[in-house]
Amino acid sequence: MKAALIGCGGMGSGHARSAPEHGVEVVAFCDVIEAAAERSRAEFGGRYATTDAGRIMRDDSIDLVIIATHHDAHHPLAVAGARAGKHLLVEKPLCQTREQAIEVAEAVDKAGVKLIVNCKFRIAPTVQKGKELIPHPRLSHGQLATGNYALKPPGTGSTWIWDKDDGGGLLISTAVHTVDLLAYLMGSTADRVYAEGRLFDPKNKGTAGYPDGLVGTILWRNGGLSTVISTDQGISHNPWVSKWFHEMWDGERSAVFTAHTGRVDFGGCEIGYLETQELPAEERRKASMLHNLLEAIRTDGETLCDAHDGVQTVAICNALDEAARTGRPQRVVSG
Ligand SMILES: NC(=O)c1ccc[n+]([C@@H]2O[C@H](COP(=O)([O-])OP(=O)(O)OC[C@H]3O[C@@H](n4cnc5c(N)ncnc54)[C@H](O)[C@@H]3O)[C@@H](O)[C@H]2O)c1
Repeated sequence: MKAALIGCGGMGSGHARSAPEHGVEVVAFCDVIEAAAERSRAEFGGRYATTDAGRIMRDDSIDLVIIATHHDAHHPLAVAGARAGKHLLVEKPLCQTREQAIEVAEAVDKAGVKLIVNCKFRIAPTVQKGKELIPHPRLSHGQLATGNYALKPPGTGSTWIWDKDDGGGLLISTAVHTVDLLAYLMGSTADRVYAEGRLFDPKNKGTAGYPDGLVGTILWRNGGLSTVISTDQGISHNPWVSKWFHEMWDGERSAVFTAHTGRVDFGGCEIGYLETQELPAEERRKASMLHNLLEAIRTDGETLCDAHDGVQTVAICNALDEAARTGRPQRVVSG
């Protein structure tokens, strides 16, 4: 399988590094910054580096395109990729708005290509075990606490996630993982959300007005309920739960996911806990969204987080943002 990488930054490099483990050869590298594309080609090999995404789309030798750009480019690149008949691994979020995400889903369905959104918590062995042991949770909680991205000097690290164009704020940029995992665990689509958001450090202009603390609720169509916390106040990560924390209950059993979903502790289940690090290397290798996408291509099956899942998650994030902005509950229309 031959692939191209668009977006040769931190996450793109991670994909290029792990691709060979899955039998994928990255033959082309594209970035708006020529030096970034060249650097990746030099580091990972491959036939060419380019600033022209169109060249990737026209290249018939490429079956799969990995999109790891800033968020404003996910929509045009994913639509172009699907229309060019490429299978797609798109970094989260699928898009910044529900309308854009629907366009991607339509293009993917029409072209008959496979797409996976890299909402990678879904494939964590701890999460798979949680779904097996607690298939119908009634309540759940998810939280993201980043380490004050907004207070870092502009242009460094992940400060671009606060930019209205490039990023779209912490919720859609990063807490999207948590919203997506709650949707997956609850096994439902969202009906209604409510949220309150605050900018705790008013001197901080770096967030473009997006809240650096948001607490939301999600009512699912199957009657389940979730709470969400998305905050940039986590400069001192709690060593017990890490940057990410999730919990669910079904009335008899419970599961607590800690350590970036590297560990789950169960209550009322036949096993007490599972830690990914204790699993055999082959099982850990398979716990990858790229592996899942390749299986879907090989078997003509579904991916674990397809374009329609991506639409749903973006729709929930948009609705939570709107609720926090307006102070009013919002209906979530996903399809
Ligand atoms: N799944 C995860 O766990 C995870 C973790 C971190 C980041 N991400 C996601 O990965 C993506 C990239 O994040 P990052 O941290 O690597 O950012 P980054 O800034 O390190 O890299 C992004 C690269 O994309 C390039 N780029 C921007 N617009 C482009 C365009 N239109 N065409 C081509 N290249 C373009 C930039 O020049 C940059 O080199 C984002 O979607 C982010 O949310 C996912």
